[in-house]
Amino acid sequence: MTTFFDATTDLTPPTGLDQSNLVDPVKAPPKQGWRKLVHTASRGRINPGRSRAQAERDELIDAIRAPLRGDYRIAVMSLKGGVGKTTTTIALGGVFAETRGDRVIAIDANPDLGTLAQRATANSPATIRDLLLAQDTSRYPQVRAFTNQASSRLEVIGSERDPAVSEAFSELDYRKAIDILQHHYNVILTDCGTGLMHSAMAGVLDLANALVLVTSPALDGAQSAAATLDWLSLHGYDQLASNAVVVISAGAPGKPTIDMERLTEHFATRTRAVHAIPYDRHLAEGAVVDMDRLAPDTLRAYQQLAATVAADFGSWHRHAVM
Ligand SMILES: Nc1ncnc2c1ncn2[C@@H]1O[C@H](COP(=O)(O)OP(=O)(O)OP(=O)(O)O)[C@@H](O)[C@H]1O
Ligand SMILES: [Mg+2]
Repeated sequence: MTTFFDATTDLTPPTGLDQSNLVDPVKAPPKQGWRKLVHTASRGRINPGRSRAQAERDELIDAIRAPLRGDYRIAVMSLKGGVGKTTTTIALGGVFAETRGDRVIAIDANPDLGTLAQRATANSPATIRDLLLAQDTSRYPQVRAFTNQASSRLEVIGSERDPAVSEAFSELDYRKAIDILQHHYNVILTDCGTGLMHSAMAGVLDLANALVLVTSPALDGAQSAAATLDWLSLHGYDQLASNAVVVISAGAPGKPTIDMERLTEHFATRTRAVHAIPYDRHLAEGAVVDMDRLAPDTLRAYQQLAATVAADFGSWHRHAVM
């Protein structure tokens, strides 16, 4: 067979003949503000280019699109209930799904009637149990038959709706589910139930590349988040704890009852990063999360969170033996 190039052929153009050498390159049209007005009014003849704010937005998008080598698993957890795990899972997954070109899925490992699927789409949820019972899952469409897709492109699989059955969702089930999903999805988020001792949790922690620890901007929430970090360090998940990203989600309007600066400082010394998500009226509805209905500040906060999480995509990770 004729080969045109051998392995040593370097086809990179010489410096001086690359993009930077283009004289007067075509600029992308401005997306908003007076710049867009000028561009539209002059029928494209005058292009003021990107504003600094637009350049920052584009940088954020590039950061969220950080390339992945394999699949990346994010466990969203908290010791305390009702602090925003499900909301964070859907919004963070939603940002990844609508910004990245690859496949993003969120699964519900809640042992007690998790709400992930109902908060992500209005369709009736398919459950992990259905996926585990599937005959053949070697091809994507076969798995897609068991997922629902939100308008952000985020796919979700719900937890069991029958409380008697959900008890039986075990660590082995979780490992089997991840074993199937990792062949088809690039970013896998898990909405963990409250608590660290439930049946699937050991599997969730063993298989996670990153932890997103959710807390409310209140003393009890912060104390349980700190206790979660202690517990993780004591049980051999030291690396996961120090690489965790803490999310302080404001579930109530108004000024937090706790000194946010000191709270942020505390978690910043123990984890990789801290992000505050503002109170959002659409999220407070507790209905299906629609990314288009988030207030601009809320969306921006989730995008910044996603960029922080994605900054770890390039790192080397130990994946547990399945
Ligand atoms: N940033 C926010 N703005 C407004 N409301 C929020 C925000 N974050 C969370 N909430 C609201 O707080 C409530 C609890 O959130 P969520 O269901 O995500 O918590 P959870 O930790 O998953 O709860 P559970 O432990 O029951 O699974 C929801 O009604 C949600 O809409
Ligand atoms: Mg929840």
